[in-house]
Amino acid sequence: MQDGTDWSAWPLYNSAETGFRNYWYPTVWAHQVQEKPVPITLAGERVVLIRDGDTVRGLHDRCPHRGVPLSEGRRQFPGTISCAYHGWTFGLKTGKLDAVITDGPDSPICGKLSVATYPVEERLGMLWVYIGEVAAGEEPPPVERDIPAELTENTLVLGGRTEVRKGNWRFAAENGFDEGHAKYLHNTALWRLFKVMPTWNKTRIVEKDGWLVRVQDELHYEAEFPGVGTFTNKRWWKRVPLPDHPDKNGDANPVISAMDIPGFVSVRMPGLLRVAYPKFIHYEWYVPVDADHVRYVQLMVRFETGATALAFKAKYLAAFRWLFHGQFTRQDAWMVNVTDAPPERLYRPDLSINAWRRHVEQLAPVVQPTERRVGH
Ligand code: FES
Repeated sequence: MQDGTDWSAWPLYNSAETGFRNYWYPTVWAHQVQEKPVPITLAGERVVLIRDGDTVRGLHDRCPHRGVPLSEGRRQFPGTISCAYHGWTFGLKTGKLDAVITDGPDSPICGKLSVATYPVEERLGMLWVYIGEVAAGEEPPPVERDIPAELTENTLVLGGRTEVRKGNWRFAAENGFDEGHAKYLHNTALWRLFKVMPTWNKTRIVEKDGWLVRVQDELHYEAEFPGVGTFTNKRWWKRVPLPDHPDKNGDANPVISAMDIPGFVSVRMPGLLRVAYPKFIHYEWYVPVDADHVRYVQLMVRFETGATALAFKAKYLAAFRWLFHGQFTRQDAWMVNVTDAPPERLYRPDLSINAWRRHVEQLAPVVQPTERRVGH
């Protein structure tokens, strides 16, 4: 292997096949967890999500007796789950073995062991699960730490999709921030029948408030209908007003201005992309499932209320959901699935990918061990 073609320059990133610890990750929609427990895999750990009244609890999805998944268990007593095999019954809040149905009320093993629990919060209609250490008697960091403030502090309307796709989460993150692919891979996206794609030159990468921002001092949208499958540098381009370069009326793009950075695409830990279109923002989270799968969580958000919000929601359900969150990002899913990098030989626009890897490395996050088994 030649110098620079593997990932040894970023040892933490290189070893983070199943992601990083001490972060909140979005998982499934809250409404998907009702009476029936829902099993998920997150950062290589098997977790079962169980509704307990108004809240949802997270437990390690494995009965310590003989290893049967608790997600197959019964909801026999309030606030508990009973393993389907011999009825070991665990408290949902504590994970403690509260009763053993097949060994009588004085079973000596009761209270002697427990399954690991996971903090779960509901925000933006989704269930967020914390993967990390929480000392006894302590709380994890607030979930808001890992959600952009603009999403929790503003009134908004959103549409979204979440699905598990093949491939490692790092390829998904790198693809999202990849400068060159948006100018080529997506030329055949049906989305372009309805929305023009931006283009740019003079890329700089800056860090701001935990985000790594791809800054284009010149950002343009194609002024003409672009056609499908064609791309040329010979078009006339319409310049997008940016905070440092407002249009002749002094107006700057409101969505891009919100972060006070002239960036169109930004990325941050633990794997969240923000793409600022003129009137809405598209987010995508690359949530590690295991080494070979990524949970792709997409949200499209508009900061509106009333009729404009309703119209946006209707447009999302009728078109954006299928065109953008469907066919468009399935083009990205293709790359994440088929690549076998490294080795790799990078070219100039890959400065974005290198900057992302360097950024992660500098933050020195805690790598999730690939073969992590949760103890009992
Ligand atoms: Fe769960 Fe026996 S395997 S109670």
